[in-house]
Amino acid sequence: MTGRLEQAPSEVAEPGGQFTAIRFENVVKRYTDFEALRGVNLEVSRGQLVTLLGPSGCGKTTLLRTVNRLIEPSQGTVYLNGQDVEKLDQVGLRRGIGYVIQSIGLFPHMTVLENTLVVPRLLGWDRAKRGARAREMLALVGLEPATYASRYPRELSGGQAQRVGLARALCADPPVLLMDEPFGAVDPPTRERLQDEFLRLQGELKKTVLFVTHDLEEAVKISDRICLMNIGQVEQYDTPAELLGRPKTEFVRSFLGPSRTLLRLSRVPLDGLVEPLGVRVPPFSVAQTAMARDAFSSLLAHGGRVVGVRDERGKVVGMVRLESLLQAASEDE
Ligand SMILES: Nc1ncnc2c1ncn2[C@@H]1O[C@H](COP(=O)(O)OP(=O)(O)O)[C@@H](O)[C@H]1O
Ligand SMILES: [Mg+2]
Repeated sequence: MTGRLEQAPSEVAEPGGQFTAIRFENVVKRYTDFEALRGVNLEVSRGQLVTLLGPSGCGKTTLLRTVNRLIEPSQGTVYLNGQDVEKLDQVGLRRGIGYVIQSIGLFPHMTVLENTLVVPRLLGWDRAKRGARAREMLALVGLEPATYASRYPRELSGGQAQRVGLARALCADPPVLLMDEPFGAVDPPTRERLQDEFLRLQGELKKTVLFVTHDLEEAVKISDRICLMNIGQVEQYDTPAELLGRPKTEFVRSFLGPSRTLLRLSRVPLDGLVEPLGVRVPPFSVAQTAMARDAFSSLLAHGGRVVGVRDERGKVVGMVRLESLLQAASEDE
């Protein structure tokens, strides 16, 4: 491999000191009879997990695919680390971007290991290096290489296949991950587990992630920022708490719907709501580190107006009132 190929695209510091990893500038996509993207402007900072959220057909997949050039905009520019993606070659795109899709796209005639090291092979890594890296990635996503490396995709569950898809996307260590409804095809418990593990991984790897979903709960759970889209346009781009707490348009409000209150509570840490214990210690409690929603759920399950808060040793050290929870939920209305 030449030195030039080893080099990552240069990075550009924004005025705020933040590094922008992906920037969409007035991106328009026109089909003969339909405008799928109507001038999208969006910036994704390095190391952030941003979801593209919105109803089916609003243009999420189209926007995502302009980044790895599976779709070419009719107008506008997409920048990856400051470089116009139109000017990147195949090698630059493969090195720079990992891509995970719902239907996984594993090659049925290749083993799990071979599927995982597809990109390093295309990039010309030597056999030993790419094999070692692929095994490392399989272990990272929770698939013991000794058990899974030589299996074929048909011998995997949906959740396991999805993990292989993630291992494959991570294998060449790209700074950017594009994920299109990656957990959409698995059952809800598996989905939650994959989300949790992905969040844990992301905490370590700090990739820049652009993640498509139509599921509000998923977006609220995993995002640093949510880009809510409506027919080819950005309606609101905000943190989950801001989006839930301060919907800017009628469309956003109706998209969030009645689940807004509970979702909002799931982003509020309990510690700001804790009061000293009264004379009576509440009969049930939640951990100090829990979210307001957990306290609310506990009150709904047990009845009552006060829930205890326990420290890491399990000792009840404070309490939260139902009123405080309701107040937190309705703040900024
Ligand atoms: N090749 C195409 N020709 C015409 N319209 C298309 C084509 N591909 C996508 N579209 C339309 O563009 C819109 C956005 O599609 P898509 O980005 O896949 O939506 P989402 O991922 O948000 O569900 C949809 O209305 C879809 O029907
Ligand atoms: Mg889609």
